[in-house]
Amino acid sequence: MLRKYIVLVGGTILLNACQPSPTFLAPASPIANHEASLYTIVLNMALVVFILVEGALVWIVIRDRKRAGDEKLPHQLHGNMRLEVVWTAIPILVVVVLFVMTVQTVNAVAQPAHLKSDLNIRVVGHRWWWEFDYPDLGIATANELHIPVDTTVQVALESVDVIHSFWVPQLSGKTDVVPGQHNTMWLTSDQVGEYLGQCAEFCGTEHALMRFKVFVDSQADFDAWVANQQQPAYQPQSEDEQAAYKEITGACAACHSIDPAEMDTDKVGPNLAHLFSRTTFAGGAFDLNESNLRSWLKDTQSMKPGNDMQITVPSQQLDQIIAYLIHLK
Ligand code: CUA
Repeated sequence: MLRKYIVLVGGTILLNACQPSPTFLAPASPIANHEASLYTIVLNMALVVFILVEGALVWIVIRDRKRAGDEKLPHQLHGNMRLEVVWTAIPILVVVVLFVMTVQTVNAVAQPAHLKSDLNIRVVGHRWWWEFDYPDLGIATANELHIPVDTTVQVALESVDVIHSFWVPQLSGKTDVVPGQHNTMWLTSDQVGEYLGQCAEFCGTEHALMRFKVFVDSQADFDAWVANQQQPAYQPQSEDEQAAYKEITGACAACHSIDPAEMDTDKVGPNLAHLFSRTTFAGGAFDLNESNLRSWLKDTQSMKPGNDMQITVPSQQLDQIIAYLIHLK
């Protein structure tokens, strides 16, 4: 039993060590900087308190242990006014300091009342993937958000099913994504890079596989990305591609659009217009490459049990469809 437990815990730690996971300890935005520094201060204060209290405890236990020949009670301190005042006053002081610093941080990271945003994004939570719409640019994409560096981004958050939570630890705190409610938050980053995001509110079986990425691009890279996303989806050339196109705009269209401007809120699955411009799929769960996509289309349920894609692509169409999808760059 114990061995099983050790293997389980050890395995989990090892697995986590291999998987990149979102961290707030490497902040890449002014907002996350404020949050990380408050965390560091609180952690250090807690560490000092822990060492002092546990150190005093150990010291007293050793110093005042019962020795051979000890018959009387040790010296009693009950009712010592000076001690009572000291150990009441210190915790109050600590809590007041923490309260003041927390309020300062909350004010510093709060969305300004009159936010002058340079970019508006709509985030829609679906079980279990993220829809990212750029209403002003006519772009609908999924699971990978692109924003330009040093830009103030206004994010509107909606959900079509249950409560999710949008969290990019290196850029910002969490904001809940609630059905029937329009929450907003703001994002900005001063460091070009790729940041992991994760749904932070338990939303069902595949909550853990509701991930996403945020790419903070240079302005030039962002403009190039936008220009590409605004292009219509690749048009079929060969006969095989025609057949795949017919299927994707036919049966698949019940759940997926390949119109890059179609905000998919009423669709069950992500927009595929520029699928292969992304690095991951299925809610950021898997690397996007031909072999993973093939496994997915053969049996989505074994890769991500419970997801809404309950169909299997027949093997005679599989090659055609994959060959076409790969062109959707
Ligand atoms: Cu969506 Cu957890």
